[in-house]
Amino acid sequence: MCGIVGYVGTQQAAPILLDGLRRLEYRGYDSAGIAVCGDGRLNVRKTKGRLQALAEATHEGADLPGSLGIGHTRWATHGEPNDINAHPHVSRSGKIAVVHNGIIENYVMLREALQAKGYEFISQTDTEVVAQLLDYFYGSCGDIFEAVTQMIHTVEGAYALGIICSDFPDRLIAVRKEAPLLLGYGSDGNYIASDVTALIRHTRDVAYMEDGELAVLDGHGIRVYDRTLCPVHKERHHVDWDIDAAEKGGYPHFMLKEIFEQPRAIREATAARIRDGRVELEDLHMTPEEIRNIGKIYIVACGSSYHVGMVGKYNLERMLRRNVEVCLASEFRYSDPIVGPGDLVIVISQSGETLDTMAALREAKKRGARILSIVNVVGSSIARESDDVLYTWAGPEIAVATTKAYSTQMAVLNLLGLYFGDIMGTVSSELYHEVVQGMLALPDQMEEILAQPGTIHEAAKLFAGQESIFFIGRNLDYALSLEGSLKLKEISYIHSEAYAAGELKHGTISLVEEGTPVVAVGLYEPLFDKAMSNVVEVQARGAHVLALTTEQHREEMERRVPVVLTVPQTQQMLLPQLGVIPLQLLAYYIALERGCDIDKPRNLAKSVTVE
Ligand code: AGP
Repeated sequence: MCGIVGYVGTQQAAPILLDGLRRLEYRGYDSAGIAVCGDGRLNVRKTKGRLQALAEATHEGADLPGSLGIGHTRWATHGEPNDINAHPHVSRSGKIAVVHNGIIENYVMLREALQAKGYEFISQTDTEVVAQLLDYFYGSCGDIFEAVTQMIHTVEGAYALGIICSDFPDRLIAVRKEAPLLLGYGSDGNYIASDVTALIRHTRDVAYMEDGELAVLDGHGIRVYDRTLCPVHKERHHVDWDIDAAEKGGYPHFMLKEIFEQPRAIREATAARIRDGRVELEDLHMTPEEIRNIGKIYIVACGSSYHVGMVGKYNLERMLRRNVEVCLASEFRYSDPIVGPGDLVIVISQSGETLDTMAALREAKKRGARILSIVNVVGSSIARESDDVLYTWAGPEIAVATTKAYSTQMAVLNLLGLYFGDIMGTVSSELYHEVVQGMLALPDQMEEILAQPGTIHEAAKLFAGQESIFFIGRNLDYALSLEGSLKLKEISYIHSEAYAAGELKHGTISLVEEGTPVVAVGLYEPLFDKAMSNVVEVQARGAHVLALTTEQHREEMERRVPVVLTVPQTQQMLLPQLGVIPLQLLAYYIALERGCDIDKPRNLAKSVTVE
């Protein structure tokens, strides 16, 4: 998520804004900016890159006098990281400035409507549409609060907004819908922020805005209204976190915070790409004919991104009825790959900087293949060298062990399968509808799983002392087991292997003995009975089994297995989207029990830019 800070009061705003943005640097960003109202006009400075560049360019804010202002650190979603796309965005009149977190889902339509009224746009962002929309409404009503109320009835999507207008130099307006925003009550002014970390040095008295609320802040107080513009009394909270805890939003580790961010991340990755039940990939520039004429399909990636590709193989082959080859990037690049013009290479990378994956991309491109990448970091090297890039919009992922990026990569790949399958005519309307509805239901189902981490924490205690743990599964459950095993290895340092369950009898089962811990993944309905037979097979050799299955098979599994984790039922291709959460939490709690450095595991880096 991007970082928002705002201030109105008796002090100079710019230094306060810069200090607040510095407190948000840990979240990751690619550009920053501030806007201050002074001498009856707006002063705006924005820079790509580090916040220090902005501080130096403004002499620590001294160049922007005034006691009302807003600031922003941007994690690019729509539009490359650069000075133009950085926030705040300013209205055509030069009077209104806006900072924004979230995604305006109907910004393309609104931009076209404003262009028809003579508006010109200089950035690639959805946020600039908000600024010009406010300009349009303000031009007719002359009141910035009224203009804001008209704007929020026009835009669709998730947004936390900070808004100032030079005609109202004592007023800061904040709006919240599905993106966090809080209010700070200070002795010398009042604040808004996307994250309590930005405020702690100035005030610990905060209130958390709810969806649909608007707030009007001035130097003397804060007035809050609900979506019907009725005044709302906000309960204040005293924040006693230290800075470190605040950066993690109160969670003990970034990894746990990011596991719990998955419902929001999936919502942002999918909602803007599903309109009226149809998948729309505006950022994909392949024509239907090009899609229908695709030759071979490869998925190339490393680590967890490769595991997304393993799930993708099963789902894309099911939807497209053609072979999909998944390759480790480090192998693909040296394998003299049989790939050429007309073939599609899907490159998956959270960081967009993994050297093996970049090298594989260049190898495929050199041979004439079309490159479609699924990336989290906007403007990263892999994104820039791809013919098409679908961003996951997961926001900055701080923990080395990926969670929300893995989940959103998978969601984007599932959307791509639906989009291609619809054009190729290989996905029935029934299946299309079933998967789309299943995807829209995922965030709530994920919340349901996350609401009961206690069961998983208890299960983790049973396994924390083990030296080696097997994961077994078939088909999608095998692909998911690969990720569950890697998560465990990465952060708990317990040796683990994921096995295609049908392969056990061909050798590996010789390792299973009394007390061997085995995580049996039995989500995939068509092979559930096979999964059960593999449970019996390993138990017969003395294995201690922890099972992961769907709610509908809980009783049957509990008759055989002492520890059973479950997820709600969903369309079978989406089961890994839910099943990965218990496995992430299992790895997390086992590592916690073992006192490991969860966010920064030994020997690992967040982005592997070496051979
Ligand atoms: C995931 O938990 C690991 N940290 C690692 O396997 C990672 O997925 C791999 O290095 C690929 O990174 P990328 O997605 O940024 O390319």
